[in-house]
Amino acid sequence: MRTQVGIVGAGPAGLMLSHLLHLQGIDSVVVETRTREAIEATIRAGVLEQGTVDLMVETGVGDRLKREGFEHGGFELRVDGEGHRIDLRGLTGGRSVTVYAQHEVLKDLIARRLEDGGKIAFGVRDTSVHDVTGSPVIRYTDAEGRPQSLECDVVAGCDGSYGICRQAIPESVRQEYLRIYPFGWFGILAKAPPSAHELIYARHDRGFALISTRSETVQRMYFQCDPNDRVDNWSDDRIWAELQARVAGDGFRLKEGEIFQRNIVPMRSFVCEPMQHGRLFIAGDAAHTVPPTGAKGLNLAVADVVVLARALENFFRRNDTAGLDGYSATATRRVWRAQHFSWWFTSLMHRFEEVSPFDARRQRAELDMVLSSHAAQQVLAENYAGLPLR
Ligand code: DHB
Repeated sequence: MRTQVGIVGAGPAGLMLSHLLHLQGIDSVVVETRTREAIEATIRAGVLEQGTVDLMVETGVGDRLKREGFEHGGFELRVDGEGHRIDLRGLTGGRSVTVYAQHEVLKDLIARRLEDGGKIAFGVRDTSVHDVTGSPVIRYTDAEGRPQSLECDVVAGCDGSYGICRQAIPESVRQEYLRIYPFGWFGILAKAPPSAHELIYARHDRGFALISTRSETVQRMYFQCDPNDRVDNWSDDRIWAELQARVAGDGFRLKEGEIFQRNIVPMRSFVCEPMQHGRLFIAGDAAHTVPPTGAKGLNLAVADVVVLARALENFFRRNDTAGLDGYSATATRRVWRAQHFSWWFTSLMHRFEEVSPFDARRQRAELDMVLSSHAAQQVLAENYAGLPLR
């Protein structure tokens, strides 16, 4: 088998890249270890920046998002029980975010790729990439157990944090930056009506909590927890009591309901540079991870592949390699901006167990600044709504 761009991973980066390349007449094949059903059922974050929404709409995969997503022109910062609205639209000159779950984005992209005749090999095993500085080949065992070999001009490594592609960049050229946070997020999905019109990011002495939504009948909520805790340690009553305590104040109460999904996510900041080696280009979580506060992960993956798709278009159409040569430098600039924001918003809102009395007071002063300074809110809003894609 032969293709122009061999894509490892059918997540947001891989699928969006395949879609953008198709629109430019560039052929690609996506290989993915998980099944389509598993991908379409995996619960992840759900906030799309304005730029991500615009891209989906402009490239013809935004119909359902426009119908079913919830556009939010602001969110609430809740500090020790007192709510403060961050007016995203007002502070950014009209930008907003849209709450639409990641797996819904993936469903839309998969459906469109298949409609357009795209090739996605789901359920593959033993994927490996070879000869990325010469004539790249992706080898794998397909879902029927047959060994396959895919020759390509370029490999796009979109296989997430635990993927194989990053490892194909030799250690001697790979620089990795990692920060692990001493807490995780306990996430739930509950059958309940929304408790508020907009998302709530709550800072409390018991720890951070986030009240998000999925629909009129399903809500997504998170609370800061011990990263080594287990979901079985938490009864429904205990979960609700913890969430209620962290948002309590000015008479506010969450609407409770049956909890039907729960998971604990660890929190880390990670960047691998460069995001290229020879004809291998890595994108999305394969190259970087952000802590979830602010939901930058999917948006950053999309931003990477916008840069990569344009560079590949120049390469295949005009044999111009300047875009590909500059891919890592261009992409990492935005990556580090998002890293900074995600680290900052996480640090601002979470409870740190082993913090010095000085740092505890300093965190309060920083919150005070955000709540009282228009300029500080503008910085928060600009970064939250997302930097422009182009
Ligand atoms: C959601 C997740 C986030 O990390 C966030 O900052 C906002 C919302 C969510 O899953 O809805």
